[in-house]
Amino acid sequence: MSVTLGIDIGTSGTKTLAIDERGTILASATAEYPCDHPRPGWSEQHPDLWWDAAVETIGRVLASGKVRPEDVAGIGLSGQMHGSVFLDEAGAVIRPALLWNDQRTAEECREIEDKAGGREALIRMVANPALTGFTAPKLLWVRRHEPHHWERVRQVLLPKDYVRYRLTGTYATEVSDASGTLMLDVANRRWSRELLEKLRIDPALLPPCYESPEVSGRVSDLGAKATGLRPGTPVVGGGGDQPAGAIGNGIVRQGVVSATMGTSGVVFAHADQLGFDPLGRLQRGCHAVPGAWHVMGVVLAAGGSFQWFRNELGKAEIALARQRGEDPYFLLTAEAALAGPGAEGLFFLPYLTGERTPHFDPDAKGAWIGLTVRHGRPHLIRSLLEGATFAMRDSLELIREMGVAIEQVRVSGGGARNPLWRQIQADIYGSDVHMTNSTEGPAFGVALLAQVGTGGFSSVPEACDATIRVVDSTPLDPKVKPFYDRAYAVYRQLYLDLRKSFRTIGALVHEG
Ligand code: XUL
Repeated sequence: MSVTLGIDIGTSGTKTLAIDERGTILASATAEYPCDHPRPGWSEQHPDLWWDAAVETIGRVLASGKVRPEDVAGIGLSGQMHGSVFLDEAGAVIRPALLWNDQRTAEECREIEDKAGGREALIRMVANPALTGFTAPKLLWVRRHEPHHWERVRQVLLPKDYVRYRLTGTYATEVSDASGTLMLDVANRRWSRELLEKLRIDPALLPPCYESPEVSGRVSDLGAKATGLRPGTPVVGGGGDQPAGAIGNGIVRQGVVSATMGTSGVVFAHADQLGFDPLGRLQRGCHAVPGAWHVMGVVLAAGGSFQWFRNELGKAEIALARQRGEDPYFLLTAEAALAGPGAEGLFFLPYLTGERTPHFDPDAKGAWIGLTVRHGRPHLIRSLLEGATFAMRDSLELIREMGVAIEQVRVSGGGARNPLWRQIQADIYGSDVHMTNSTEGPAFGVALLAQVGTGGFSSVPEACDATIRVVDSTPLDPKVKPFYDRAYAVYRQLYLDLRKSFRTIGALVHEG
């Protein structure tokens, strides 16, 4: 039996699972950890949390009795993208990592565009504009604000690559995650010497960059001792959580698009050609399929908005759900179902942590607009689900505009688990939505990449075709779609109307 492990280092927790060569899940374990927000807009985690969670979950998978260390043919790593881990000469962590949803680097983003010779020149070098969550601006921020830390930095790693380092003793990354650093020449799938020079970043700070299914290192004696794995077990490149999740959902051909509602919401399309958009409205990167690329739009707080509602305004549902052994989200969506499409004119803007696609605006804020005395909790919740879905539609529209045909939309993540939210997605996207048998996302995707890298399959599409199929479809309701098309036009206008006020509110908060 050829077993592979997939390890996904998420923002709220780490998941490790084991699959066999048919893609059957043999065992799985997750461990959660917190995220620090030391100031408004800042987001940090200590890399030790990821390693400890990886050790714990690998240990639990091995202790399940379903997988023996000698059965493990290979390991794939996935994780939250764009985070920056700063290591010193001895490989020790210098400060907590700055995460993908950290918004402190607006000034550094401007500096990068200036030094690159403008936004278009930057996009020609690294396929993306400078976004606050990306890695390069974080390096510049630490260099400017924490020179005492910066002078000790000898290696910068992405979150999953830190776990690789602890597991194998090797510094390495792969093209799909590296695409989100703003330092990769995405067209040529190697570090951009040109941009690194302009930014005065020493290329020696960055690890060697592999293709996603390639073997990048092997479990070291130290890694084996900590985890119970066999020394010498191969570890493949793996992928950033979005490209890896796309592999796990079978997004390996042009025309098939995924819409994933996790904390962030992501619309992801496979692209045979990289293409070029001078405005850089969608993120572009190397796909975890060698020789292919991806385009994606990211809504920073899609499921995250619902999570916020549950935590802050759903305490009663949390308590009731605990009593009944149910999921509080299901109680909340049952309330939402009491309101009809459009929630009687109530709109929700899901920009609780600023917004990436399509606005690139760290100052954007969340809002309910259109409140009247007739509105109650059902409307608040329904409008929230609709607002997060309208935000996802923004990305779908951009993908359509760029000439990438959308033949099939595959939904996944928390937003796909609930039938009401699935229906809202079909009606707002204007397309039937489909679910696959594969619900384990990025961890499953990188376990498949490890199967490819260790000879179980000859290519990534072959691995996906053998293991992933559509099992459920939600047709769009043709009676509701035209209404949502009109409501979407209102939704789009609301941000434009409020943009200036969001900035003024931000300034007020800084003053206060
Ligand atoms: C992708 C992105 C997020 C993070 C965390 O560009 O920022 O999806 O990878 O999940």
